[in-house]
Amino acid sequence: MATTTKSPASKTATKTAPASATKTATKTSTSKTATKKASGMTGKMKDSEFHEFFVDGLKDIYWAEKHLSKALPKMKKAATSPELAECFEKHTVETQEHIARLEQVFGLLEEKAVAKKCEAMEGLVKEAESIIEETDKGTMIRDAGLIMAAQKVEHYEIASYGTLKTFAEIMGHTEVVELLNQTLENEKATDVILTEVAVASINEPASEE
Ligand SMILES: [Fe+2]
Ligand SMILES: [Fe+2]
Repeated sequence: MATTTKSPASKTATKTAPASATKTATKTSTSKTATKKASGMTGKMKDSEFHEFFVDGLKDIYWAEKHLSKALPKMKKAATSPELAECFEKHTVETQEHIARLEQVFGLLEEKAVAKKCEAMEGLVKEAESIIEETDKGTMIRDAGLIMAAQKVEHYEIASYGTLKTFAEIMGHTEVVELLNQTLENEKATDVILTEVAVASINEPASEE
């Protein structure tokens, strides 16, 4: 994602003409940054490109969470083992909390809570659906497949929240950092639980089917 966004600095760098002018240009941009920092006008600014980029990321994960909240009950229904079904049920409730937290984040930033389609989450949910279609009901192979799909989802969420939290930190949005971190920790814990369920009661019986 980062590679597609040119910062104003890189635009200026591309335009740089004579080599003799480089030193002066660098000096100017450094002093501008210093002035911005001194007055607290860094990426916090609502109209800054970085702020917009951050909010775009929030919109993406907001859509992803909403989409996932509809998929998780289907995954619960499809699961063979009660342990896995319980895990999906628990995470459905937690996902609602993630959605509510993101709405709080939008509120703190004085931004509208808008969901922007997340192609990645759409693809990951499709993958879970095809596992349900391609495996037999009541088998442990289905559960092993569902765990694989669910862990891919959790890892996507971990990557997203990890980055967004770092962005919020750099902009000094302390309350937002705390909210994003709560969800991040829950996604990490969910990933660990899924591994534990797989090891304790799914993988072995699945390998014997
Ligand atoms: Fe989530
Ligand atoms: Fe999750």
